Amino acid sequence: MRKLICLVALSLIAVSAVAQAPAAKPEQVIAYRQSLFKTIVWNFMPMGAMVKGSKPWDAAEFKRRSIAVAFAAVQLDEAFAQGSDKGAVTDALPAIWEQPDDFAAKLKAFQRTSNALRMAATTGDQEQIKAAFGEVRQTCGQCHESYRAE
Ligand code: HEC
Repeated sequence: MRKLICLVALSLIAVSAVAQAPAAKPEQVIAYRQSLFKTIVWNFMPMGAMVKGSKPWDAAEFKRRSIAVAFAAVQLDEAFAQGSDKGAVTDALPAIWEQPDDFAAKLKAFQRTSNALRMAATTGDQEQIKAAFGEVRQTCGQCHESYRAE
């Protein structure tokens, strides 16, 4: 019982700490966003090289990188907060905040395809993995087309 009370007290402290945390500054959101894309491309390029055949196929490496991309993709949900359209150098276009529903759909599509790639990578079936990789690459391009400056 005592343990339970302690746990409840602890979780209340945790909740109030979150509630009182100051909102992230725009430049922090932008830095976070760009770091997620850096993580994504860091892992995406070697997978692309394996798909193309310019790097030897390594199933375990592919699996690990696909997990990293899918994980970063989900974290992008917090990376486009209101007000983070400016505050630091950014290639994010104002259209992101002007057409939030369409942008959210593009982000969802990326999260869906990168999760599908992560699951495909566990099958070891190269044809299936390559097809899934192509789908992810398309969702990168579809978002950049409307929402990232050249
Ligand atoms: C939902 C939209 C969206 C998707 C999907 C998306 N991007 Fe981006 N990407 C952006 C935006 C917006 C920026 C500009 C971020 C900024 O500068 O604040 C960006 C920036 C980048 C950058 C530059 C990061 C830096 O600052 O150094 C790279 C590299 C990148 N994306 C690669 C990718 C790859 C690879 C994929 C797919 C695997 C992808 N992106 C998917 C919207 C997207």
